[in-house]
Amino acid sequence: MKIAIGNDHTAVDLKMEVMEYVKSLGHEVVNMGTDSKESCHYPEYGEKVGRAVADKEVDCGILICGTGVGISLAANKIKGVRCGVCSDTTTAHLIKEHNNANVIAFGARIVGNEQAKDIVKSYLDAEFMGGRHQIRVDMIREIEEKG
Ligand code: RB5
Repeated sequence: MKIAIGNDHTAVDLKMEVMEYVKSLGHEVVNMGTDSKESCHYPEYGEKVGRAVADKEVDCGILICGTGVGISLAANKIKGVRCGVCSDTTTAHLIKEHNNANVIAFGARIVGNEQAKDIVKSYLDAEFMGGRHQIRVDMIREIEEKG
């Protein structure tokens, strides 16, 4: 898969480690985050990754800020993006299986490096189950259409 990764200044080291890990799993990674630890603004990176996913330049996205929340809020403003914050591996596979999330987010101040890699692997290994979950995902899209 081709995967976009984005981050703010709180998550530079974790981003690097996650990037290497995702590459080691055989995926292509596009780094859309900052590589500087100077204070910056997370919405910029949430938007970049969100647009790349919505425009189908990549298959999915990974976002990391301090908590994962701010950057996920920004990504979710892009039409077609379904991003949620995952701090555990159960959420990480269910967010794909049930919600068909195309972006996951987590917090560099919340999860440790090993947990972050486990979260990413759980998400990447999972598949959308469709069926009743498709109905609910369609309902979310209808809300988005209403604006
Ligand atoms: C930056 O200090 C911090 O606010 C940001 O990384 C993130 O946690 C926002 O949700």
